[in-house]
Amino acid sequence: MKAVVFSKNKKVEVKDVKIPEIEDSREAIVQVTSAAICGSDLHMYDGRTNMEKGHIFGHEIMGIVDSVGEGVTQLRVGDRVVLPFNISCGTCINCAKGVTSGCLTTNPEGVGAAYGYAGMGPHEGGQAEFVRVPFADFNCLKVPGEPWDKFEDDFLMLADIFPTGYHACELANVQPGKSVVIFGAGPVGLLAAHSAFIRGASQVFVVDPSKERLKIAKKFGAETIHFSDGPIAKQIQEIRKKNKLLTGSLRPGEEKLLKGVDCGIDAVGFQATLPSGEKSDPTNVLCQLIELVNPGGHIGVVGVYTEKDPGAKKPQHSKGIFELPLGDIFSKALTIATGQTPVKKYNVLLRDLILSGIAKPHEIVSDHIKIDDAPAYYEKFDLRGHGKGKDCTKVIIQMKKNFKKRKAA
Ligand SMILES: NC(=O)c1ccc[n+]([C@@H]2O[C@H](COP(=O)([O-])OP(=O)(O)OC[C@H]3O[C@@H](n4cnc5c(N)ncnc54)[C@H](O)[C@@H]3O)[C@@H](O)[C@H]2O)c1
Ligand SMILES: [Zn+2]
Ligand SMILES: [Zn+2]
Repeated sequence: MKAVVFSKNKKVEVKDVKIPEIEDSREAIVQVTSAAICGSDLHMYDGRTNMEKGHIFGHEIMGIVDSVGEGVTQLRVGDRVVLPFNISCGTCINCAKGVTSGCLTTNPEGVGAAYGYAGMGPHEGGQAEFVRVPFADFNCLKVPGEPWDKFEDDFLMLADIFPTGYHACELANVQPGKSVVIFGAGPVGLLAAHSAFIRGASQVFVVDPSKERLKIAKKFGAETIHFSDGPIAKQIQEIRKKNKLLTGSLRPGEEKLLKGVDCGIDAVGFQATLPSGEKSDPTNVLCQLIELVNPGGHIGVVGVYTEKDPGAKKPQHSKGIFELPLGDIFSKALTIATGQTPVKKYNVLLRDLILSGIAKPHEIVSDHIKIDDAPAYYEKFDLRGHGKGKDCTKVIIQMKKNFKKRKAA
């Protein structure tokens, strides 16, 4: 079968590899219909992890069950499924608590596993024609309909970035009436903005150096903030004053203590850049959020910070150690929460928001491509909105051309 494999920094290749087989009776093989390229794939593509050469990329996967092991009881050949990016056993103490992102049994290298990801176990990814799904009863979400129908893109977003945008809101305590600032208008930041409105936020600001990506944030109803229009805090204050959201119930002198908003979301992570597009200090976004979130507020960090970064500028950063203004965090009584998303906590509910027409995560999809074009599209997506012409905000590899119905096992 064809698969997108890691070759070296800034290079992926489409190779012919063996079709996976069931190795444990609780597994299934899924024939992939769509697989997306994620901002998280770029950390590996950019050489900022210890990704092994030849490993298949892809953790945002959906398709049709092609075969099941004898121990699988809830799935049938032909079922249409989307796979949470976390691979979890469903029975360890963390899975039992709902923290499937911290499964204790599926990653021999540590805690929490994923498809096609550095440091998250040996599992091959799904930017390929087939993928092997461990603990298949637990790791497949059934979805209605037929391959490539009108919900294909929406359902694919359930594998990672829609639950991650929603999880960011949960971590940042977004509730009805709250104001939110989101750094990053990549797929995750955009779906965090969409989720914030679904949760009833009164106002959502999205910050990104890419004007192209900010246009999509506007489509979701967000106020957009670009660096070139002046200091971010000032822009937010002015917009809030203009529509009386800041000044409505404040007494004299209080205004200067409330710089920003109730909730902050980091949807950028350690690969943050300066407005010019050059690498910045990895804590750039977090430090700005600590300044912008009002006393007593919450910050949700879903942008990734790695434990090892071979591309870091400073020795402590290469070990995942960063400086943060803890004094400010303490004196402002801020709550900061972070981590990989436990997708299963949200994906059934988000699927139903899609089916009811309330959630439209497909709005961020920019490109549908064939697997042979993946290397060229990794290059374009890696520009993160800084390229000339149309932005590759979210790229989906469709396997239409290679899709063959195989016989039930
Ligand atoms: N926690 C999880 O489970 C989880 C899941 C999926 C993705 N992620 C992470 O979320 C992050 C975003 O993912 P994505 O797919 O949207 O990636 P992306 O790379 O497409 O988007 C990042 C965006 O951040 C912007 N940006 C860069 N520096 C900035 C700055 N200083 N201020 C404001 N914006 C800035 C970029 O222009 C880009 O639009 C990545 O770190 C990814 O690994 C985490
Ligand atoms: Zn992803
Ligand atoms: Zn587990």
